[in-house]
Amino acid sequence: MATTKKNPVKIAVFNQKGGVAKTTTVFNMAGILAKSGAKVLVIDADPQANVSSSLLFENISEYDRKYGTSGQMLKNAKTLRDIAERPSCINDAIIKAKFMIQDKTKPKWRGVDVIPANSMMFDMPPLEDPDDEESGMVIAHALEQIRRTRGHMYEYDYILFDLPPHLGELTISILAAVNYILVPASVDSYSLAGFGELMNTVNFLVSSKRNPDLSVIGIFFTMMQATPYYISLYNETMEALGDTFIQSTIRQNVYAKKASECGCPLCWLKRNSGITKDYINLTEEVLRRCGKLGEDEHLPNLTDPKDNYTNYLLSR
Ligand SMILES: Nc1ncnc2c1ncn2[C@@H]1O[C@H](COP(=O)(O)OP(=O)(O)OP(=O)(O)O)[C@@H](O)[C@H]1O
Ligand SMILES: [Mg+2]
Repeated sequence: MATTKKNPVKIAVFNQKGGVAKTTTVFNMAGILAKSGAKVLVIDADPQANVSSSLLFENISEYDRKYGTSGQMLKNAKTLRDIAERPSCINDAIIKAKFMIQDKTKPKWRGVDVIPANSMMFDMPPLEDPDDEESGMVIAHALEQIRRTRGHMYEYDYILFDLPPHLGELTISILAAVNYILVPASVDSYSLAGFGELMNTVNFLVSSKRNPDLSVIGIFFTMMQATPYYISLYNETMEALGDTFIQSTIRQNVYAKKASECGCPLCWLKRNSGITKDYINLTEEVLRRCGKLGEDEHLPNLTDPKDNYTNYLLSR
């Protein structure tokens, strides 16, 4: 049977500031996109490996049971460190994430794959070789090999990168490989610090023809609260940034942490809660800005009346 080659939308979730919900956003957007029928690859570029641990929560416990180890799976995994050395090994690095979304059912693959990170990435060898112009394009070349060597089953609609909170060589080579950057920000007077430097990097990548089509989807506020301070900062930032500001916000809510800790994205764990709706609104706005969803269109399948896993997990 002939297969159609998809061209995935590649999004890097990035802010130089730490702790602004980059990882939480990747984890929950991946869940929402997959639940609405897309195939998603999450690539963890942060040696802290937080999104790897959340997405592979069930895989890791299964691995530990099978091999009698504790937390060894990520240590043995192939990561971007291996891929930077040998781009063709990208296909061996992909793991199917399993989620358990209902009590007493087996964890199942639901459309999200992961290339995990581990602590070996703290010690990445230099990527950029001044004598080799192509060295900064190593991640872009590796991503092309996913499409070439994998069959239709593995063709992704979206590739999401979870980046560490600094603009190092790995981050820059990822920004050279993606279509879009999405910037979460916390609501404080430092929230835009570093944004100018990011824009300079984007302009450099565009003007040097390393990635002429790179664009910033926008900045959005996370951990928002309905207090006068937050609201006035929100209004000031919206005015200052114009179209770069995404009006959807993510409220502060304890379920953000709970979902990551129990390895079940919010759209399954707390499908009707306010924070889940915030992430659905954000994802839809992101897709509109990427030309993947019409103005009045919505993502399908985001409510599931059979979903009863929430109470079980929350009582653990
Ligand atoms: N909407 C939210 N409400 C409450 N807590 C949140 C929310 N979003 C994220 N958090 C919590 O804030 C902390 C930081 O989030 P996260 O790890 O996603 O940030 P990050 O930007 O990826 O951090 P780093 O820069 O270290 O990679 C985590 O403990 C997370 O559970
Ligand atoms: Mg993170």
